[in-house]
Amino acid sequence: MDLSKKLIIVGFSGFGKEVYWLAHRLGVGVLGFLDDNPSIQGLTYRCTPVLGTVDEWTNYADCVFVIAVGSPRIRKKIYEKMIVGGQPDFATLVDPAVVIHREFSTVGAGSIICAGTILTVDIVIGSHVIINLNCTVGHDVVIQDFVTVAPMVAISGNVTLAQLCEVGTGASIRQGLSLDKGSMLGMGGVLTKSIAESTVFFGNPAKAFKKIAD
Ligand SMILES: CC(C)(COP(=O)(O)OP(=O)(O)OC[C@H]1O[C@@H](n2cnc3c(N)ncnc32)[C@H](O)[C@@H]1OP(=O)(O)O)[C@@H](O)C(=O)NCCC(=O)NCCS
Repeated sequence: MDLSKKLIIVGFSGFGKEVYWLAHRLGVGVLGFLDDNPSIQGLTYRCTPVLGTVDEWTNYADCVFVIAVGSPRIRKKIYEKMIVGGQPDFATLVDPAVVIHREFSTVGAGSIICAGTILTVDIVIGSHVIINLNCTVGHDVVIQDFVTVAPMVAISGNVTLAQLCEVGTGASIRQGLSLDKGSMLGMGGVLTKSIAESTVFFGNPAKAFKKIAD
């Protein structure tokens, strides 16, 4: 990313603070946070203020942005709200302690990859994806837009995570499977069969638990 531009983190949450730390590790200056919660306006984290609400991003159009909100659906809603005002410049944040080679894999705009994650070869990561701490991502994996992968997840080769999927902490996914749009694998789940759209699985072996209503 362009280190001369200041970063604004959208979402003043625990994960927002972790992204602040990631930016610090990359040497990227953070101008502030944007968040729609009225009760936190003007608060600071390490002297860095909440500057205003999400739609006020247009006051800072010379900055780069990242949406640091774990829920895929809420992250997409925030993105849709932002693009009503124009086309923000979204940063891609990859922690220095991530193992990835840009000639072997691609990462889209607005995506965040946290420390300790290892990505091997021929991996396509979409836009506004979050891959949290200490995950492994095998060969030929496709992770579409607005997917969230929690810490310590093992994704085997040839897996596809369709847009708006979520994978909980410590889950593992057998090679070649897919999670359809908006589905979820709960924490600790061991996935041996693909998951249909908007369905939650958990357990070992993981089984269907419920449907997610929009
Ligand atoms: C799967 C999940 C979405 C279900 O959440 P929920 O719909 O609120 O379900 P509940 O917490 O009401 O649990 C319902 C039942 O399933 C069990 N359960 C929930 N998640 C489970 C999991 N991952 N594995 C095994 N059992 C689980 C609960 O113990 C409960 O059992 P009970 O009825 O015998 O008491 C959630 O538990 C989960 O795994 N979320 C991911 C969390 C995560 O990884 N966060 C990352 C933060 S960085």
